[in-house]
Amino acid sequence: MANSKKRNVIVGQSGGPTAAINSSLAGVYRTAKDRGYNKVYGMLHGVQGLLEGRYVDLSEHIQSGLDAELLKRTPSAYLGSCRYKLPGINENKEVYEKIFDILEKLEIDCFIYIGGNDSMDTIKKLSDYAIVFGSDIRFVGCPKTIDNDLALTDHTPGYGSAAKYIGTSVKEIIRDGWSLETAHGQVMVVEIMGRNAGWLTGAAALSKSEDCDGPDAIYLPELPFDIQAFIDKCKELLKKKASVVVAVSEGIHTADGKYICEMDNDPDYVDAFGHKQLTGTARYLCSVLAAEIGCKTRAIELSTLQRAASHCASRVDILEAYEVGGAAMKAADEGDTGKMVVIKRLSDDPYQAGTEVKDVHKIANDERLVPRNWITKDGTYVTNEFITYVRPLIQGDVSPIMVDGIPRHLYRKGFQDLL
Ligand code: F6P
Repeated sequence: MANSKKRNVIVGQSGGPTAAINSSLAGVYRTAKDRGYNKVYGMLHGVQGLLEGRYVDLSEHIQSGLDAELLKRTPSAYLGSCRYKLPGINENKEVYEKIFDILEKLEIDCFIYIGGNDSMDTIKKLSDYAIVFGSDIRFVGCPKTIDNDLALTDHTPGYGSAAKYIGTSVKEIIRDGWSLETAHGQVMVVEIMGRNAGWLTGAAALSKSEDCDGPDAIYLPELPFDIQAFIDKCKELLKKKASVVVAVSEGIHTADGKYICEMDNDPDYVDAFGHKQLTGTARYLCSVLAAEIGCKTRAIELSTLQRAASHCASRVDILEAYEVGGAAMKAADEGDTGKMVVIKRLSDDPYQAGTEVKDVHKIANDERLVPRNWITKDGTYVTNEFITYVRPLIQGDVSPIMVDGIPRHLYRKGFQDLL
């Protein structure tokens, strides 16, 4: 259903930022322009901002090839993001009427949303509403999340860059630990994001190379975490080496489902999707180790750094993010709706991949976890299959555009500055 007279496009960013999400935005913008759309609007802070009538005309912000290159190299979400859960259509029809009124007023043909599994819930609901109420607007999702937990896609843009940063940082931490001798040994616990999926934590194993042994243990959230077994393992390791480095997911939990980070600090903050803020796992485990073993400990929470490190972005990731943005725009232009673009891997070596579109109903709100057979039997490391899978995604670099020794970003003076 290609439109003969093309009107406008609107694009939004949603969920946790990444180092690659703005490259997808650049891809959507370029393809929309190349395919003859008039205006490309950007929602400010996703659908939540749209509901408040907040959007920009992107051509006023991306004015040159240099702006587009800077955008691809800028972490965070250029347009601003949100964690907003649309109510069910039957729960609150007014919200939908408001959104569709705004979209009609802006003469929108295509709505592209760059986000993760929660954000695909928005594409699912809006595309359903459009079909039921006879709107021709097409709604297409563009995958994004460092967590790499979206169903039906080989991987998600944003993951490769975060994995590269994690592999690099863990290697630097191991190197640092090696240099100092400590009386009773030292354990460094590196806490890595990913909520319930261990894709990012497993990437700590990428540090293992000719010149580095890699972390001594890796604990993914896919398996229950046994605190006593962890203490015993660290004790054993400290008999053999002075500096032990362990990677743990922020989402590790006991067999009865209690997050380790909740042990000494039950987080009050819960987002719109009911997700607790997971933080403090490494700090808690370090306090337990110090009390039980008496060794020196260091809790290293990679936190925001792992998703904002565009100075260490993967070239494969940034290019794929751009292509996936373009593919989402192309799909909407060619009449798809209620779909999300997925990446299909064709081969590992040489790495080759392409894109397809899949039904967003099969993706929204689902979580794709690390398969059990990609985790070692004892549950304390990832297998070679895991490494073979992730290695191609971290290849190549994207040089930042440096000004006065610091990377330059494309910056939009926005709402946050007015607070
Ligand atoms: O959804 C991606 C993610 O980075 C998760 O890995 C992490 O648990 C979460 O976002 C943190 O979200 P926030 O920055 O909103 O606390």
